[in-house]
Amino acid sequence: MSKKPVRVAVTGAAGQIGYALLFRIASGEMLGKDQPVILQLLEVPADGPQKALKGVMMELEDCAFPLLAGMEAHSNPMTAFKDADYALLVGSRPRGPGMERAELLAVNGAIFIEQGKALNAVASRNVKVLVVGNPANTNAYIAMKSAPDLPRQNFTAMLRLDHNRALSQIAAKTGKPVAEIEKMIVWGNHSPTMYADYRFATIQGQSVAQMINDQDWNANVFLPTVGKRGAAIIEARGLSSAASAANAAIDHMRDWALGTNGKWVTMGIPSNGLYGIPKDVMFGFPVTCANGEYKVVEGLAIDAFSQERINITLAELLSEQDGVKHLL
Ligand code: NAD
Ligand code: LMR
Repeated sequence: MSKKPVRVAVTGAAGQIGYALLFRIASGEMLGKDQPVILQLLEVPADGPQKALKGVMMELEDCAFPLLAGMEAHSNPMTAFKDADYALLVGSRPRGPGMERAELLAVNGAIFIEQGKALNAVASRNVKVLVVGNPANTNAYIAMKSAPDLPRQNFTAMLRLDHNRALSQIAAKTGKPVAEIEKMIVWGNHSPTMYADYRFATIQGQSVAQMINDQDWNANVFLPTVGKRGAAIIEARGLSSAASAANAAIDHMRDWALGTNGKWVTMGIPSNGLYGIPKDVMFGFPVTCANGEYKVVEGLAIDAFSQERINITLAELLSEQDGVKHLL
């Protein structure tokens, strides 16, 4: 094992996403089969979650993962994030049936102020941060604004689950393998207003939009199915998605760290003003990744239908941002 271990902080480590995530990070699925990791696990200080975290760590130990170079349990972000190279901010309350994710801002927003400040104080200056806890875009925005000494582009929000959901719906509709679909995009907020856009998508070079050629299906079946998939899972499982969320987090971090070889993926990132999205709004964009950095796919034509959808999801994000102004 020649590579130096990297430090991966995970919050909410004893929660349901944590349980589906940690074993895959430790087995090398996120950062590569040659990259040793040290897990720095954060849970709330209460006895129950700390005890559950100990149990998860016992199981991690029992896997004897060759890449697991160390692990630590923490109850304070100031120690959990010390020198972290990667931070997956999962810990926060999930919604229940009948709730929208934005309703969680009141309970979860404060977590990301404290954790943004802690990252600012103690994490590696190159830390790559992924916010999973909902509402993910605005929580990532809060964390970024609470960490003024870190580069803003280091803060990202998870739109990858929506991207993967869109891929599966297109695969089912076209009868083609999911692996052959390229150039999918999900614009905007991780909420029902997200705009999953397959206008540029291809399967073996053929246009998906032409293959499907059904705007009614797009507007009335595809978009609501992808946009409300989280709620459908809560309804069916009684709990919010966990394994698919952990899988999306692995995909997001792996692609950011190791590159996409020119493939488009969706990441929630602070806008630089492209596509008319105001600077700093944490927005789902199509990106490619190389050398540890993401780059927005530029120059895509936005038609009237798409502009209308983008405006709706942007307006929602601006109103969420406005709602947390007083906290920042
Ligand atoms: P969970 O309740 O099973 O686990 C959350 C864990 O976080 C708990 O163990 C809790 O003790 C811990 N926690 C709470 N506050 C914390 C804090 N300040 N610091 C550290 N740990 C803390 O929930 P879950 O199912 O794992 O979901 C976690 C979050 O992820 C929820 O907000 C959920 O809505 C969100 N989520 C997002 C996506 C996405 O696509 N962005 C997908 C699925 C779930
Ligand atoms: C999801 O999309 O599955 C998660 O954001 C959980 C939720 O509340 O929908």
